[in-house]
Amino acid sequence: MLELASIPRLRAWRAAQRAASRRIGFVPTMGHLHEGHLALVDEARRRTDAVVLSIFVNPLQFGPGEDLDRYPRDLPRDRALSEARGVELLFVPSVDSMYPPGMEIRVTAGETAERWEGAARPGHFTGVLTVVAKLLQLVQPDLVCFGQKDIQQVTLMRRLLRDLEWPVELAVVPTVRDPDGLALSSRNAYLSPAERQEALALSRGLNAAQAAWRVGERSATALEARVRASVDAAPAVRAEYIAVVEPEWLRPVATAHAGTIVALAARVGTTRLIDNIILE
Ligand code: PAJ
Repeated sequence: MLELASIPRLRAWRAAQRAASRRIGFVPTMGHLHEGHLALVDEARRRTDAVVLSIFVNPLQFGPGEDLDRYPRDLPRDRALSEARGVELLFVPSVDSMYPPGMEIRVTAGETAERWEGAARPGHFTGVLTVVAKLLQLVQPDLVCFGQKDIQQVTLMRRLLRDLEWPVELAVVPTVRDPDGLALSSRNAYLSPAERQEALALSRGLNAAQAAWRVGERSATALEARVRASVDAAPAVRAEYIAVVEPEWLRPVATAHAGTIVALAARVGTTRLIDNIILE
C-alpha cells in the first residue's frame, strides 16, 4: 500500500493509473476506521481495479463547540486495517494542503442541507460538500462509496454529482452494525458501557418501525411513535429528531411508501448519534 500526503504526488499517481486504464474506487473517511468504513472498501474493490481511501478530519464540517479536537485519531491502526483490506493508496492530506491560506470557495446546497442534521449543525454540509468536491477533484475516481448510515450526506452527494454533472458513479453501502444492532460509528468510542447499552434503544426503535411497516402500518405519525416509544424507554437517550421522510429531498411525509426513510438523531449522555432505516 502506498501512502501519500502530497497533492502533486497524488496527481502523478492518478495520471499513471489513467495511463494504465485502471478504474479507481474512492472511499473518503475521517479515519478511526471500523467495519463500516471497511465495507465501503470491499464494495469499491468489487467494482474497481484500485481503491483510494482518504483520511482527513475535516475542520470545515465541525461547528464551534463540536468534537473536532477530541475526534478519535489512530493513523497506525488505520494504516494496518487499510492495507489488510486491500487499499492501494492511502491519502492523508494535511489541513494546510486541503485549505491553503486564501481558499474561500465553498460548495453549498439548498433546503436538503438545511433540515435535520443541517439544522442541528449549521454549516456542516457546506463543510462536507466542499471537502468531498475537492477530494473528488484530486482523486478523480470512477466510483465513490458512501455509507447509508449518514443518509442525508448520501442524498447530498447524489445531488452534488448530478447538479455539477460529474461522471462519477455513487455506491451506497448498507449500515454495518454490531451484532446487538448498534450502528458502527467512530463516535461510539465516546460511550461508556452503560451508555452503549442504552444506545441500543435507537436501532431497536427503528426495527420496531420496520416491523410495523411490514405488517401494514403506513401512517408516518404511527411509525415515528414506534421509534419514540423505544427511545423514551431509555432514560439516558434524548431524541433530537425522529423523521419519516422521502428519499429525494428528505421532506416529511404523512404516508410511508417503500423507500421512505426513518432517520433519527439522539444524544446518549453527551454523545450525539444518528441512525436510519429504509422501509422495504
Ligand atoms: P466518516 O464518518 O469517517 O465516514 C466515512 C464513510 O463511512 C461515510 O460514507 C459513512 O457513511 C461511512 N460509514 C460510517 N459508519 C458506517 C457504518 N456503520 N456502516 C456503513 N458505512 C458507514 O462521513 C464522513 O466521514 C465525512 O463526512 C466525509 C464524507 C469523509 C467528509 O469529510
